[in-house]
Amino acid sequence: MSSDVFSKGTRQRPRLLRAIENGPGRPPLAAPLDALGRLRVLDPAVGPLRAAVRKLPLSSRTRDVLHGRWLGHPLHPALVQLPMGAWMSAGLLDLLPGTRRAARVLVGVGVLTALPAAATGAADWARLHQPQLRTGLVHGLATSAALGLYTASLAARLRGRECKGRLLGFGGLTAAGTGAMIGGHLAYRQAAGANKAEPVPYLVGPGWHRVGKVDAFPVGQSASASLGEVELLVHREHSGAVRVLANRCSHESGPLSEGTVADGCVTCPWHGSTFRLSDGWNVGGPATAPQPGFETRVGDDGVLEVRLRQP
Ligand code: FES
Repeated sequence: MSSDVFSKGTRQRPRLLRAIENGPGRPPLAAPLDALGRLRVLDPAVGPLRAAVRKLPLSSRTRDVLHGRWLGHPLHPALVQLPMGAWMSAGLLDLLPGTRRAARVLVGVGVLTALPAAATGAADWARLHQPQLRTGLVHGLATSAALGLYTASLAARLRGRECKGRLLGFGGLTAAGTGAMIGGHLAYRQAAGANKAEPVPYLVGPGWHRVGKVDAFPVGQSASASLGEVELLVHREHSGAVRVLANRCSHESGPLSEGTVADGCVTCPWHGSTFRLSDGWNVGGPATAPQPGFETRVGDDGVLEVRLRQP
C-alpha cells in the first residue's frame, strides 16, 4: 500500500497502526490464566475427582455421546450456549421493568440446561493432561458457583423475593462469565478438545512418499517412522497388508505406535481412543476426530511408500 494513503490528515495514524500491529504488550489476563495450569496446589483435588469421573458406571457408547464423537467435535462448547444464552437474556430482562415472569423462566431454563452441559464438560475434563486438568477444575468451580447462585436465584424468585433473586442472578452471571473466560483459555490456549492431527494434511505434501524398507518393520507389531515433520504409525499385518496412520493421536497427541492393536484397530495408550487401522476412523472416543490415514504400496526395490488418504 502506498505511503500516500497515510500522508494526508493526521500524523497520529501511523502510530495508531503501529500500536495495532504490535499490540499493547502482554495481555493483562494472560499471566493469571496461564498460572492456573501450574497450580499444583489443586492436584490433591484433581486426582480423586478425575478418578471418580472416570469410574462412573457409563457405557462407552454413553461416554462417546458425551464427548461428541457422533458430532465430530466436542459437544460441551455447543451445550454451554444454552445456559449462557438464557442467563444473559435473564440478566438483560432484570434491568427492564415488567419482565419478571420472562426472566424467571429464562433463569429456570438456564439451570436445567446447565446440567447436560456440565455432564459433557466433566466427561471431557477427565481425559486431559495435568495442566489442563488444573485449569479445567477452576473452570468447573466457577461454573458450579454460577449454577448454585442461579438455583438460589430461581428459588428466591419463586418465593416472590424478586430483588434477592436478581442480585443472586447477577452474581451467577459474573461467575458464569468468569468460567466462560477460563473455559476459552482451556480450549484455545491449552488446546483441550482441539483436533491435534489437524496439521497433518498441511505437513505432508501430495503424492507418494518413500518411508523405508518394508522389511525393516516387524510383522504383527506396530512401529513408528518419520515422514518429514510427521510421525507415522506403521503396522505390518500377517496378511501382508501394511497399515499406516499419523502416529500422534487426534485427541491429545498420544503415541499410537505404543498402543494395543486388536480387531484391526489401534487403541491409544493415553486415554483409550480407538482408531481403525485401515482408514483412521475413530471407532471409540474420547477422540472426536479421526486419525489421518495413508494409502500404502511397496515398490520393486522393497521400499514402503505412502500417500495421504483423502477424507
Ligand atoms: S491422547 Fe487421549 S486418547 Fe489418545
